[in-house]
Amino acid sequence: MKSPVIAVSGLTKLYGREETEVRAVDQIDLQVDVGDYVAIMGASGSGKSTMMNIIGCLDAPTSGTYRLDGIDVATLPDRELSRIRNQKIGFVFQNFNLIARTSALENVELPLAYAGVGRRERRRRAVEALTRVGLEKRLTHTPAQLSGGQQQRVAIARAIVGSPVMLLADEPTGALDSTSTTEVLDLFDQLSSEGRTLVVITHEDEVADRAKRVLRMRDGRIDSDLRQAPLDGPPPRLSLRREAS
Ligand SMILES: Nc1ncnc2c1ncn2[C@@H]1O[C@H](COP(=O)(O)OP(=O)(O)O)[C@@H](O)[C@H]1O
Ligand SMILES: [Mg+2]
Repeated sequence: MKSPVIAVSGLTKLYGREETEVRAVDQIDLQVDVGDYVAIMGASGSGKSTMMNIIGCLDAPTSGTYRLDGIDVATLPDRELSRIRNQKIGFVFQNFNLIARTSALENVELPLAYAGVGRRERRRRAVEALTRVGLEKRLTHTPAQLSGGQQQRVAIARAIVGSPVMLLADEPTGALDSTSTTEVLDLFDQLSSEGRTLVVITHEDEVADRAKRVLRMRDGRIDSDLRQAPLDGPPPRLSLRREAS
């Protein structure tokens, strides 16, 4: 049995103290298995970003445990934590976070450089990842020379190039028009169908509709956790029956 990608237990994050205390994340238990595609939804202030920061090893919880791919991250010294984060998680952000005046290739090579991969191998894998996202004709373009949707695809190439155990995306379509949104969501569908694990934070129904599982947060807790049928799959029973009558 493979370890779950995410195994969280009693996870709590408090901000402030005493009368100003905020329970941004409040006693959350959550497991995400290999190959799952999870959307995390919830109103502003419900704790999504706090949850994302903890899952992404960018912040530590006040209490509770987090095992990332079987590793209890609280036990790791800072250097080791950075290494594990770089190796295990591919991040995708709302505003792409690409390095300006630097080619798509070099942006995608960067995490491999941190991981100590040699130059030739780095280049080979970056070309492969950019081809994977349909940008093989844009290798030497800089972010300013690319559309928003193309920039986000460079960011996705950068996120997958190191073969992480999960992609963690925070409002990945928040800065995109509807055409680019569809492109990015189609790409996520493909990555999911290849067995990759995706966790996507979003407030857009269009994004959540593509996920296999939708978590709704409210006041730092998980309010609902629902599996949904694939969009391309058979229609729900109810509508089938209604059509037949
Ligand atoms: N650094 C912080 N200091 C104090 N309170 C914070 C901080 N970050 C978030 N919060 C509070 O924690 C709660 C959850 O915030 P957040 O995780 O950003 O929610 P979301 O991303 O769903 O909008 C909110 O009440 C917010 O005001
Ligand atoms: Mg937020």
